[in-house]
Amino acid sequence: MRILITGTTGQVGGALLAILWDKHEVIAPPRPTFDFSAPQSLGYTLNKFAPDLIINPAAYTAVDRAEEEPELAFKINRDAPRFIAHWAAARNVPLIHFSTDYVFNGKCDQPSLENSPADPLSVYGRSKLAGEDAIREAAGPHLIVRTSWVYAARGSNFLRTIARLARERKELRIVADQVGAPTSARVIANAIEQLTAMEPCDLCHSFTKAEGVVNIVTAGETSWHGFAASIVEGLQSRNVALAVKLVLPLRTEDYPTKAKRPLNSRLDLTRVQEVFGITPPTWQEALEPELDELASEMQTTNIK
Ligand SMILES: NC(=O)c1ccc[n+]([C@@H]2O[C@H](COP(=O)([O-])OP(=O)(O)OC[C@H]3O[C@@H](n4cnc5c(N)ncnc54)[C@H](OP(=O)(O)O)[C@@H]3O)[C@@H](O)[C@H]2O)c1
Repeated sequence: MRILITGTTGQVGGALLAILWDKHEVIAPPRPTFDFSAPQSLGYTLNKFAPDLIINPAAYTAVDRAEEEPELAFKINRDAPRFIAHWAAARNVPLIHFSTDYVFNGKCDQPSLENSPADPLSVYGRSKLAGEDAIREAAGPHLIVRTSWVYAARGSNFLRTIARLARERKELRIVADQVGAPTSARVIANAIEQLTAMEPCDLCHSFTKAEGVVNIVTAGETSWHGFAASIVEGLQSRNVALAVKLVLPLRTEDYPTKAKRPLNSRLDLTRVQEVFGITPPTWQEALEPELDELASEMQTTNIK
């Protein structure tokens, strides 16, 4: 298949590129030639490469900054996906797009199903939901993959922030009342790779069976505090020298942020298992290879 992947400098796009480049003909247009802040300009590259499948992890992901620049967030998270979805629908090209647990308000105490009512709490969440709606309206073959708490050994994310702070500080205070499933970009890319192994008509059929949306996260749940404690423990057990002695729990209300976050970020995994036969690993299992990679980096360099 000729696959166009967006956002390959990001966590999910980078993991997708790493896993798919030698299995398919992969096109990864760099941001200057495929800029989501100018949605109309995307047609040139799409026409030029005429992909058989589009995978779209590119997004405006600065959750707090989005509160200050909602127009840009909506342009990148709604208008650009809308343009891509219409281009794809007109040619019957399947589109895999990524969305977030932040489309939910997190007030329910159960994991959200794919068809649970959306009620985003932030500009970022609203812009991502608007992107989902635009893709549904275009009505081409599509799959919206909702995921949560994405991290990787590389890039800029919670794992690396905790690793850096654990080197610098004796005590960390981390939010303990937001619950979710930390999901490595590698887990998401592995799941998508399984989809790309399908024949195009089977792929589109599975999208319909999934009603166009599926949750892909790791199994199990923890809090940001639980995740941070596991990162510290995992690095120490790999003999990484850290300054940190205590990882203390904090309440959301004691750590104010510009954007409001859902307390319950859990996403139900029944559909991904039933429709696609994919059983994601637990968040603890998924963390191991990322810690291996990060620990070997930390043994030789200072991380930023
Ligand atoms: N990160 C999370 O915790 C999380 C949680 C749930 C869902 N998601 C969703 O999962 C998907 C992948 O997230 P991620 O963590 O991999 O994101 P990421 O690491 O922040 O990467 C975002 C990518 O989008 C690109 N991008 C941003 N603005 C662009 C523009 N104007 N034109 C073209 N490309 C642009 C970035 O390019 P530059 O490198 O040039 O900026 C980067 O390659 C997104 O749809 C996100 O909403 C993420």
